[in-house]
Amino acid sequence: MRVLTVLGITALLLFTFACGGEKSESNKEVAAKSNVVVVEVTGNDLMQFNVKTIEVLAGSKVKVNFSHIGKMESTVMGHNFIILKPGVDIVQFATAAMTAKDTDYIPADKEGDIIAHTKLLGGGQSTSIEFDAPAVGTYKFLCSFPGHYAMMQGDFIVK
Ligand code: CO
Repeated sequence: MRVLTVLGITALLLFTFACGGEKSESNKEVAAKSNVVVVEVTGNDLMQFNVKTIEVLAGSKVKVNFSHIGKMESTVMGHNFIILKPGVDIVQFATAAMTAKDTDYIPADKEGDIIAHTKLLGGGQSTSIEFDAPAVGTYKFLCSFPGHYAMMQGDFIVK
């Protein structure tokens, strides 16, 4: 799975660079200079992310393109993408998030536990976030919609 994820990201980057002539060259230069890693994450109506492991290199700028590829409303099958700081208990975080409906299930008193997060999406919606990769290590990511973290979680690895 780990290898597949890396190949997936590499393939995506290659695909991006392969599109168009001179434009792709300039994109490539920009990407090389700023070390931008683009990660495609989806959530579906079966309460699943498309990835269990995401790997990036330390020093990268990370762009996560997050899409809900299902059809269900955010009120019944909402998805967000949250990366937690090291040492944060995912169960405690998710439990606190359950009652934070008004803030897209981001608990106001747990903002300090978060490295990066998206807004909450319903079916057909998408969003993007950008952030600097944190220090080398393994971080948990999850969807904090009530009950989803059990299935919708994985490792964000910085190498
Ligand atoms: Co979800």
